[in-house]
This record gives sequence, C-alpha cells and structure tokens, in this order.
Amino acid sequence: MLSFNKFFEEEKLHQSPVFKILKDISEGSMIINEILLNGNPEHLKSEGTKNIQSEDVQKLDVIANNVFLDFFLKNKEINGVLSEENENIIQGHKTGDFSIAMDPLDGSSNISVNIPVGSIFSIHKKDNINTVTCEADFLKQGIKQECAAYVLYGTATILIIAINNQVNGFTLNLKEKKYYLTYPNIKTPEWGNIFSINEGNIKTIDPEIIQYVECCKKLNKDGKRTHTGRFIGSLVADFHRNMMKGGIFIYPKTADKPNGQLRLIYECNPIALIAQFSGSKSSDGNELILEKTPKNIHERTAFIVGSKNMVTKLLSFYKK
Ligand code: AHG
Ligand code: MN
Ligand code: MN
Repeated sequence: MLSFNKFFEEEKLHQSPVFKILKDISEGSMIINEILLNGNPEHLKSEGTKNIQSEDVQKLDVIANNVFLDFFLKNKEINGVLSEENENIIQGHKTGDFSIAMDPLDGSSNISVNIPVGSIFSIHKKDNINTVTCEADFLKQGIKQECAAYVLYGTATILIIAINNQVNGFTLNLKEKKYYLTYPNIKTPEWGNIFSINEGNIKTIDPEIIQYVECCKKLNKDGKRTHTGRFIGSLVADFHRNMMKGGIFIYPKTADKPNGQLRLIYECNPIALIAQFSGSKSSDGNELILEKTPKNIHERTAFIVGSKNMVTKLLSFYKK
C-alpha cells in the first residue's frame, strides 16, 4: 500500500507547494484525531459563545480551528486563511501564493453524541501579486479551486483529496501515525438509492425538491422501497457515504435558513470539487455550485450534490 508521501512522489507532486499544505492538513488531522480519541469529557462541551453565524461554538470547534491555523500560519505558501470560526480573513505569509478556506470541524452539534465529524478545506491559488490577503482572494468560483480535501473522523480516520481531476482516499494508520492510500481514484455510481435530507424542513422547501423526495419514496411493482433515507447531520459523513455508495444529499433553502444552511466557500465548494472529480454533480437548484461567484466570505447556499443521474433528475423538476 502506498503511503501518503510515496503517493505524492509517484504523482510528481511532492515538491509542489500544494503538497506542503496537504501535509499540514494531514498532520493537523492527526492531532484532532488524537484529541477525539482521548475522550476527555471537557472537550465535548459547548464553549458557551456564538460564532459569526450565530451558532453555538463547541470547545472542539475552537481547538480544531487553532490546530489548523497553527500549521497554516507557519506555512510560507499560505497568504491568507478564511475559517468558519473567524469573522475576518487571517493574514498569512506575505510571499504565499495560496489562500485556504476551512470548516475546521464540521458536524460539531454531533460531538457530544459520539457521531462522526469532519474537517473541510478549499485551496485557491492567488491570481494577484498583492502580498496582503483580501476578500477577492476568496470570492472566486469553486471551479477555480486548485485542490479540495476533507477529513472524516469516523470508524477510521480518512483523508479525501481532490487534485488533478482525481479523488483519492487515505486511511490513517494509528500505530505508524501515517496515512496510506486505501481508496485510489474514487468514482461515484451514476445512480444510487440513498437520499439524504433533513425531513424536519420538508414543509418549508422548494416544491421541486418535495416532488423529488416523493419520487424517492415510491415503491416498486413488488411494493418494496426503491430508496433508503440517511441523514446524519454531519455534511462530511453524509456526503462521503453517498460518494462511495451512490446517493444524493440535499440541503435546500428553508424557512429557518432562507439562503440555505451550508456555507459556499468552505463547505459546498470543496465538497462540490470532490464530487465533480469523482464523476458526480452539484447545484443550488438554479446554478452549478462550482460556477457560483460568492458575494461575501461567509455566504450560504442551497446545496444539492450526489450521483450524476439523481441530481439531473431532481433538476429536471425545476425546468418543468
Ligand atoms: P457545522 O457543524 O460546521 O456548523 O456544520 C453543520 C452543518 C452540516 O454538517 C450538516 O449537514 C448540517 O449543518 C445539519 O444541519 P441541520 O441540523 O439543520 O440538519
Ligand atoms: Mn460544517
Ligand atoms: Mn464547523
């Protein structure tokens, strides 16, 4: 089995600045993984504050943010960092060519009940030569991402990376403290039978999505179900399952969240790039996610992502 380093050596990417950033992500994730496995009940509590998006901040949100920021701010390739947990962009190295946006801990409302959580990263190359980081470095279409990655702290800890039109998955070997390539060149089935949506919102969402969900609930000629419903509430875990098995994840605009719940730059865009490179598709209902131009750094969006034919079928309801 190829180690993480060996894989990038073989891909001739091990000298690249992006590899240095991916190294930081892998090392940061090992620290988070250790903290999660230590099971210190103090870490599982709420911080007692709200973030810029008025959501409860958990202690682990703060810890994960600090762990990754520590790595990124020491990395000379990184010019600026945008995080879910910080209102403003953080200045990195003046000579850095890359901007990184992150959700340091995704699914944090699941921490206290021992359900998988994740970390999500979006990497852009700067197109200006300004040494000072600015919003324009982040308000870019997702299709322009250089690379995207997530870590899923689940039954095992895995690191999924989208680069050069491919998605590869690495599993953390705890004894050796090393990632190994365990899921080479991931491809999502074009059809799947999983649909993932928070049904609590169903009465407040676009009728086109209600229609699609109704289709998923139709029985076959033998009176048996055609689909199965799965929704964990950690985007990384929900997406990962669907990417591997085939399925669709839907988080629409709701009465509670009129612009959608998920953040475009550091949740949807990186997941959308991973989806694209694994052969699946994403949209907000009107526009492809990767073609959206963000207007502000913490912008939210409706998010539909998954098996190509399932997403196409859902979108066909919008056109009728
Ligand atoms: P975060 O913990 O980073 O704020 O993200 C939570 C997100 C996402 O992981 C999940 O899919 C969604 O919020 C769940 O929202 P609901 O509880 O409204 O279903
Ligand atoms: Mn999140
Ligand atoms: Mn988060």
